[in-house]
Amino acid sequence: MEPIETPRLILRPLSFEDVPDLLEYHSDPEVVRYIPWPARTHDDVVEVVQAYQRSRYCLADQGDSLVLGWALRADNKVIGQSNMSLLSSSNQTADVGWVTHPRFGRQGYAQEATQALLTWAFERFDLHRVVAHIDTRNVHSARFAEKLGMRREAELKKAIRNKGQWCDTWVYAVLREEVDCMPQKRFDRLD
Ligand SMILES: CC(C)(COP(=O)(O)OP(=O)(O)OC[C@H]1O[C@@H](n2cnc3c(N)ncnc32)[C@H](O)[C@@H]1OP(=O)(O)O)[C@@H](O)C(=O)NCCC(=O)NCCS
Repeated sequence: MEPIETPRLILRPLSFEDVPDLLEYHSDPEVVRYIPWPARTHDDVVEVVQAYQRSRYCLADQGDSLVLGWALRADNKVIGQSNMSLLSSSNQTADVGWVTHPRFGRQGYAQEATQALLTWAFERFDLHRVVAHIDTRNVHSARFAEKLGMRREAELKKAIRNKGQWCDTWVYAVLREEVDCMPQKRFDRLD
């Protein structure tokens, strides 16, 4: 696929050269606390990159998924990633997720990447609705979804098992027609 470009980032498929960058945050127990991954070793990261690379980078058929790294334009370092998967082709609904390397947190990178990804994905795959499932304890991520312009639509009780525990989750959503109304992109204000 063609990378997605933003003012500071290039969103692109991940490769084995990115493993050291990914390991910095995939191995951090705080980063993965509310996402269904273990804290990963080097070998685990190599394995997930192999799995990411099996993607067709397309959301056409139910179950299709993709992962894009956020590489800094300045030096190509990967400082986060987005994932998307098609939940229903008949309902044109996909799921989105986000992770920022903590050293690069609170600098607007997740917002910059996710807004660009959503704009691209709605158009490219003719999506109607994108949802995010967020552990109710993950208040930073919920605040992030709200800042992005997503709407909290539901609370699901003990819906996801994460690290041996049943967790309540919030469902956040955005519709295609709402993407243009998303808040002014923070990076527009950086100039
Ligand atoms: C959630 C997460 C992706 C946010 O990434 P980020 O790059 O720091 O986010 P941004 O800098 O783009 O922040 C955008 C907005 O999100 C909210 N936000 C992000 N981090 C926050 C924090 N630590 N505390 C409160 N609000 C936060 C704020 O509203 C922020 O806007 P503001 O800085 O103008 O107040 C990041 O904290 C993360 O990777 N968490 C661990 C992984 C995870 O749980 N992923 C989500 C699974 S559902």
